[in-house]
Amino acid sequence: MKHIIIITGAGKGIGKAIALDFAKASTTYHDFEPHLILVSRTPSDLEAVAVECRALGAATEIIQADIADMAQIDQLVSTTLERHGTIDCLVNNAGVGRFKPFTELTEEDYEYTMATNLKGTFFLTQKVFPVMEEKRAGHIFFITSIAAETAFKSSSLYSMSKFGQKGFIEALRLYAKSCHVRITNVMPGAVYTPMWGEVPEEMKAVMMMPEDISAPLVNAYLLPLRTSVEKLVIRPVGGDINE
Ligand SMILES: NC(=O)c1ccc[n+]([C@@H]2O[C@H](COP(=O)([O-])OP(=O)(O)OC[C@H]3O[C@@H](n4cnc5c(N)ncnc54)[C@H](OP(=O)(O)O)[C@@H]3O)[C@@H](O)[C@H]2O)c1
Repeated sequence: MKHIIIITGAGKGIGKAIALDFAKASTTYHDFEPHLILVSRTPSDLEAVAVECRALGAATEIIQADIADMAQIDQLVSTTLERHGTIDCLVNNAGVGRFKPFTELTEEDYEYTMATNLKGTFFLTQKVFPVMEEKRAGHIFFITSIAAETAFKSSSLYSMSKFGQKGFIEALRLYAKSCHVRITNVMPGAVYTPMWGEVPEEMKAVMMMPEDISAPLVNAYLLPLRTSVEKLVIRPVGGDINE
């Protein structure tokens, strides 16, 4: 069965691993035919990931879009619906972080963080949800963070945005339950991705890898439709890295 799956932030890090794991699942489950729509602001990243997904046998297309831009959100959803007529899964993975002491964060840091993590995620979900509501099926994932529940000293803006995402998810689930749309809040601890920039070897050694997050996400998607994984909290075995 064909599944139209949009993954935001699919050019690198956790989003890339999610795309690859959906593609790999198509080789394990013969009736699972993912059609992946990879989204980010950098087409060269997306094309590189698409080549790997296609090599695994998954139909894959790329759409360059900045989810902080309302017109680009509209375009992403309308293009997908024109081409495929439906959306089965949305992975709200795209996210940004500016990690500095609270006193050093600027208005530009604030606008930049909220535009993607809150506004973009909210309005993309708002555009996609009615498609799922109407067919009474679908699955929306949010890659939030343990920072959606736990504060870290250098993460004030990031935590504000992630706590906010969590609030939205809790409200959305009240709508989603009545129409059998599955909502999963994925809350990872520290994962070694480009978001962190340069990382000392000793820190890298205690971090998770992107595939540690993508594998349980894809498993949650492939569970029987009667079952909804509401929350996945995934931490390094040694606990949080306290920055
Ligand atoms: N890494 C961690 O430790 C960790 C832990 C918990 C939660 N998370 C969350 O997991 C998600 C992925 O993080 P990551 O570590 O994989 O980050 P990453 O390596 O920086 O990758 C982020 C991806 O999102 C895309 N993106 C960012 N802003 C976008 C926008 N406005 N529109 C479209 N695409 C956008 C980026 O591509 P372009 O820049 O090319 O657009 C990139 O492909 C984020 O929501 C993050 O908050 C990460």
